[in-house]
Amino acid sequence: MHDGVKAPQARMSPTTPETATESTSRLRCINCGSIRERADQDFRCPTCGDLFEVFYPGWQTARSSQATGRRAEDLKRLWRDRKTSQAPADLSGVWRFRELLPSLKSEPITLREGNTPLYDLPRCARAAGMQSLQAKHQGMNPTASFKDTGMTTAASFARQEGFRWVACASTGNTSASMAAYAARGGMRSLVLIPEGKISWGKLSQSLDYGAVTCQLRGDFDGCVRVLNELVKRRPIYLLNSVNPYRLEGQKTAAIELLEQLSWQPPDHIIVPGGNLGNSSALGKGLVEMKELGLISRLPKLSVIQAEGANPFVRSIREDGGAKLTPMQADTLATAIRIGNPASWKKAQKVLKATGGEVEEVSEIEIALAKAEIGADGVGCEPASAVTLAGLKKLVKRGFVKSNESVVLILTGHVLKDPEFTLKFHRGDLFTGTPDEKHAAMLGAQQRAPLVLDATVDAVSGVLDKFDREVPGE
Ligand code: F0G
Repeated sequence: MHDGVKAPQARMSPTTPETATESTSRLRCINCGSIRERADQDFRCPTCGDLFEVFYPGWQTARSSQATGRRAEDLKRLWRDRKTSQAPADLSGVWRFRELLPSLKSEPITLREGNTPLYDLPRCARAAGMQSLQAKHQGMNPTASFKDTGMTTAASFARQEGFRWVACASTGNTSASMAAYAARGGMRSLVLIPEGKISWGKLSQSLDYGAVTCQLRGDFDGCVRVLNELVKRRPIYLLNSVNPYRLEGQKTAAIELLEQLSWQPPDHIIVPGGNLGNSSALGKGLVEMKELGLISRLPKLSVIQAEGANPFVRSIREDGGAKLTPMQADTLATAIRIGNPASWKKAQKVLKATGGEVEEVSEIEIALAKAEIGADGVGCEPASAVTLAGLKKLVKRGFVKSNESVVLILTGHVLKDPEFTLKFHRGDLFTGTPDEKHAAMLGAQQRAPLVLDATVDAVSGVLDKFDREVPGE
């Protein structure tokens, strides 16, 4: 039997004297500050029940700002040089930054995660009233969501600890990712998902990757409750984002982004909020980069939720994030259909540290933004589109200025939820819902497939009609 989960004894693996920081990672409770080497299997602090974060005591020991600057330059060069290496850890867009991660004793379980593109979105920029706009597309990961960047780290530590089983509760993407990494790492995986509340694409991934998949009658928050009890009774490694090693991997998306921007921080980064692990992870990455002298200032990180699943927005607006009241969540953006987010305290700290904001967006606004991101030739799943919808509101409020630089974090691929996209274009996404009467405004974005006779004239006639309607496009 496992008696808990040991913190990996991390050392920065120095390659030059200047980068030799020689630090070990530890787990620190975000509430009571107690420091431990080993977490219980529910990854909760045994003293106060709150979450742990990974921290690296040795990083604080740089002797001078000059030494910090030298070390930062060395790290940048080291990471750039690894881009030409064929070693599995260097081909991973996560482990390439391993100096800022707890170190592994063996090879990581990797599918070459990370390495995701940064796109310009000119049409979306216009729609939001911005001069320019960029998106880092985390849906371009191996299982088509950002979850892979955290799964490579946490699954690797699960294997190092000798676990046979890993498990998660999920709205679909975590489970798809976990199932893939468990399979690659020779472990068995258990998936708990809310019955009928996740997209078929995501469900089919976890089946194909060989997970034991249980659809529980209830919601995501109910799945989390069951799993938290289960891991106390059986030797199962928990891979939800309460596992701080997931967040360590996910923070590398922020590092990779800054590298892509030649280490010039954008003014704003905008992230969808569900369980709030990703915003916490990206924020942690930003703060650590600042502390290590890799960047000179922090971008403002803002979190966007769906109106029907907005416990964090309410918490921040009602009392500055001092407490969070769980809610019954509902949104067609099923990935973020979460009423009791685990990492809200971490996300609250990130907002405070970076000066970011929160915003909530309606179902119609999400659907419109998703179509606009698609029309830029990029596309994403509904939960990712809250970022553009939220940006429009932040611009209207004056929080984001039209000449500022903004990066949206697109979290999932457009093919994750084709049912949403098809219903949108056929015009029946909102049929029978309270939003039905507002859906007419989406008409200009809808492109239902046309059924025609199999003749050249029929197809040519359609082109004539389009040329008449939108000359010059
Ligand atoms: N976007 C997508 C596509 C997601 O799958 C999720 C979360 C989020 C955004 C929100 O990220 O939870 O870190 O705030 N999906 C989880 C899952 C909950 O089980 O796949 P978060």
